[in-house]
Amino acid sequence: STTEAAPAPAATGSVLDEIVKRGELHVGLEAGYMPFELKNKQGDIVGFDVDMAERMAKDLGVKLVLVNTAWDGIIPSLLTKKFDIIMSGMTVTPERNVQVNFASPYITIGQTILIHKKHEGVVKSYADLNDPKYIISTKLGVTADYATKRFMPNATIRLFETEQEAVMEVINGKADAFVYDLPYNASFFSQNSENLVFLDDPFTYEPLAWAVRKGDYDFMNWLNNFLAQVKGDGFYEETYNKWFLT
Ligand code: ARG
Repeated sequence: STTEAAPAPAATGSVLDEIVKRGELHVGLEAGYMPFELKNKQGDIVGFDVDMAERMAKDLGVKLVLVNTAWDGIIPSLLTKKFDIIMSGMTVTPERNVQVNFASPYITIGQTILIHKKHEGVVKSYADLNDPKYIISTKLGVTADYATKRFMPNATIRLFETEQEAVMEVINGKADAFVYDLPYNASFFSQNSENLVFLDDPFTYEPLAWAVRKGDYDFMNWLNNFLAQVKGDGFYEETYNKWFLT
């Protein structure tokens, strides 16, 4: 048998060129994760990620198009080119990082817990919830789902399609606790504190980053320099204060 060198990969252009040529940046996200992407009263998708995406489009000299996509289809949709980038508060995990490339993290968060007020003083941390008598609600296919199964394997876990449905279980007294990313819980708690207690000490370490298709180093380079720019010129801070400190 003969040994042949593997054929050189076909020279593929960066999606950056496509974005500039079509005059539009297509961003995939799932609106429902405040304060990163949520629908306002007018039904427009707004949030931290959206402001970042708008600045990105402006810097590229193109129009921004948001593609609202259910979480469970968001990576497959990126891979089948339904959009150019995921900007959706996505945690960098080793498993996801096998499927996609991530730009440098733009924020670090962790899992926190909203408990029903009736457990105040009794449930003081995630460890106290690791008991079959406690029902924990969260969203399917997110890091809260994985963390709950890992840190509270004995609890009764109920998974929902959206953050909103899951957190409402606690409000309605059908679940004892809701596990989720700190910024979401902080926003939710600031609006609904009557029958909730916020255990706000994060028990996981999770960098969030923008995801792109693998191997597009031109786009990755553009994104990382964009992030350095907005971090240095005040735009990041201004946007952070707008969405996280109100
Ligand atoms: N950070 C979590 C994760 O990556 C949750 C992100 C949810 N984002 C959303 N737009 N619904 O699994």
